[in-house]
Amino acid sequence: MPKLKVGIIYGGRSGEHEVSLLSAESVIKALDKEKYEIIPIKIDKDGRWADQIIQPDPTRSSGLDVVFPVLHGPYGEDGTMQGLLELANLPYVGAGVAASAVSMDKTFMRNLFQQAGLPLLPWEVVFGYEWRSAAEQVVRRLEDSLGYPMFVKPANLGSSVGVSKVKSRQELAPAMELALSYDRKVVVEQGLEGGREVECSVLGHNHPQASIPGEIIPANEFYDYEAKYISEDSELIIPAPLTEQQTKTVQDYAVRAFQAVDCSGLARVDFFVDREGKVLINEINTIPGFTKISMYPKLWEHTGLSYSALLDRLIEIALERHRERQALRTSYY
Ligand SMILES: Nc1ncnc2c1ncn2[C@@H]1O[C@H](COP(=O)(O)OP(=O)(O)O)[C@@H](O)[C@H]1O
Ligand SMILES: [Mg+2]
Repeated sequence: MPKLKVGIIYGGRSGEHEVSLLSAESVIKALDKEKYEIIPIKIDKDGRWADQIIQPDPTRSSGLDVVFPVLHGPYGEDGTMQGLLELANLPYVGAGVAASAVSMDKTFMRNLFQQAGLPLLPWEVVFGYEWRSAAEQVVRRLEDSLGYPMFVKPANLGSSVGVSKVKSRQELAPAMELALSYDRKVVVEQGLEGGREVECSVLGHNHPQASIPGEIIPANEFYDYEAKYISEDSELIIPAPLTEQQTKTVQDYAVRAFQAVDCSGLARVDFFVDREGKVLINEINTIPGFTKISMYPKLWEHTGLSYSALLDRLIEIALERHRERQALRTSYY
């Protein structure tokens, strides 16, 4: 059998560029060289492609059979790259355009979760123009509806970039300014005190499955950029020490969250468990960290699927989804 040509797109114009380099390195190393011919496609931090082999014109073949965008954050995980791959008519791993875009946006994502009946912490959205014209009113609104501590986050980002924990009124303005320097839209959420952070991996397409959940013990006061990628003191506990009922709830919510955004392929769904033991959903990540020691593949490993078997399955799903889409009518006649 001829080898499947797999394009790995990595790097990218994102604050998570470096994380993508690490994820891609692991993916490239683990893909079965007997089955796949690997074509690495690097995008610089300024957006320049080392080799522009993918064209939006579907009649100009790239020679690729399938693409794995191993890109985190904006211009990779947010539907823009998926749009290019759709135009090129290439099968690709992971969520489609709309699912990627809504999962990247913390307001759209929350609205869909709420519609699906998934429990969230109370939250508000603030736009840059509102903050600049009526900061005092915004402060009052946030204090009335959320209280301190609050978490302030740019709507479209990840890896905790621009996220602040705000414990008092004095800290609110600098946190808003920081988040608004990354996005015109900011999510402000009630801060959970004494909660735990639990994550669950989802894999599949029409019938997604959830892994065993894992728990994160962040090295810092919260799971900020430093605690995620720099400090060696953050811990992953697999399986998460939860009751059987909590585990079931996490897995059920993870699959429902995946379906709420119409995701495909893979996603890591992140939760809080509050002091009373209640499970609350935090977010979905459609291209989670994918190094060998990242939570997404580790959870599958503990569930019985090795790193390279997981990659095989993701590629199969990408091809399956593409076939499903090709079978749809594209013309009225
Ligand atoms: N409402 C909250 N209460 C307590 N901790 C929070 C809250 N929101 C975020 N955090 C902390 O900040 C981290 C990053 O926030 P998150 O919403 O997951 O953003 P990102 O998409 O950048 O990962 C979380 O992993 C958690 O440690
Ligand atoms: Mg997160």
